[in-house]
Amino acid sequence: MSGSSFGTILKCTTWGESHGPALGVVIDGMPAGISLTKEHIQPYLNRRKPGANPYATPRKEDDEVEILSGVFEGKTTGTPISIMIRNTSQRSGDYSEISQYYRPGHADFGFDAKYGFRDYRGGGRSSGRETVARVAAGAVAMQLLSELGIEVHAYTRAIGDVSLYDNITYKDISIEESLNSPTGFPIQSVGLKAEKYLQECMKNLDSCGGVIECFATGVPAGIGEPVFDKLDANLGKAIFSIGAVKAVEIGDGIQVTSMKGSENNDSFTIENDTITTATNHCGGILGGISTGNDIVLRAHFKPTPSIFKEQETVNRLKEPITIQIKGRHDPIIVPRAVVVVECMTAFTIADMLLQNMSANINNIKKVYDK
Ligand SMILES: Cc1cc2nc3c(=O)[nH]c(=O)nc-3n(C[C@H](O)[C@H](O)[C@H](O)COP(=O)(O)O)c2cc1C
Repeated sequence: MSGSSFGTILKCTTWGESHGPALGVVIDGMPAGISLTKEHIQPYLNRRKPGANPYATPRKEDDEVEILSGVFEGKTTGTPISIMIRNTSQRSGDYSEISQYYRPGHADFGFDAKYGFRDYRGGGRSSGRETVARVAAGAVAMQLLSELGIEVHAYTRAIGDVSLYDNITYKDISIEESLNSPTGFPIQSVGLKAEKYLQECMKNLDSCGGVIECFATGVPAGIGEPVFDKLDANLGKAIFSIGAVKAVEIGDGIQVTSMKGSENNDSFTIENDTITTATNHCGGILGGISTGNDIVLRAHFKPTPSIFKEQETVNRLKEPITIQIKGRHDPIIVPRAVVVVECMTAFTIADMLLQNMSANINNIKKVYDK
């Protein structure tokens, strides 16, 4: 299977299936000399861990990180960093029926159409469990970003029809609050409303979707390549590659279609002797290149496809059937995906920072001039 790798200079390849012995990632291109231990990665994995709250799959996994290579005495060596996370809570029997039919909204039919053969246990490679490996990769990228004073955070903006008011931006919220919330909302009263909405969904054996916002601060101006590897294009690919993401917005996103140019344009201004934009409708990216202002994006997630309600579908014998899905599923993907969006954003920015280093002869001279 191709398409398991992401990145140009900083590259990651994820491997493993939901119900195999382990999942993992190989990260190549990480510069040497960066502090990296299990303790830097584990907190990110803990945020994604299943079974952590009532709105996540009851599958319980320790998701303990094992660094197999690329690190010596707590520092990266510049060689491939291999990270493994063992599966410890497989219950493959729950999924044997799925081998024979196609779940509406899931990847089963696509995999059969493409390969004619699939690891149906928990969705195999198309399982949300694959994201454990990307989170590990993102946590490694965060170590590089933190050396440069760049921070990346994400939080929940909407679950079903419960959402933060439009006038509340990432500048008005507390990330700490969102980290302590089972739904990932940064405002407790909104989070409680969302919990009620979710409980109703679960009572009806249904699922729902939502929106995650991610922002990166401290990204210097000039990051991103001007044509096919625009920063927004690569961020779009990174976020769209997460299962269940159906739309990605940068800055004001789809709102720009009803704005006037005079409302959407960000005036340039000088702050502390540096050129910046007075507003940030563009989400910190113009022409595919960072402006130096904060990068802002939103990921829109569809409802979890595996629901416990009866559904109509067909089986491999082309017979129409009625199904009731078993197994362990997230009634909402959003709270667990917050850290996934954060990590894919961090990885993309880290890769593009490294790509940018050869854009200008002065940068090259800084490295090679005696
Ligand atoms: C963190 C995470 C957890 C997920 N959990 C589930 C789940 O429990 N059950 C399910 O049917 N889909 C789950 N998904 C979504 C499926 O992986 C995804 O919908 C499926 O692969 C089909 O791909 P598509 O929705 O992008 O078209 C999850 C996705 C993510 C990112």
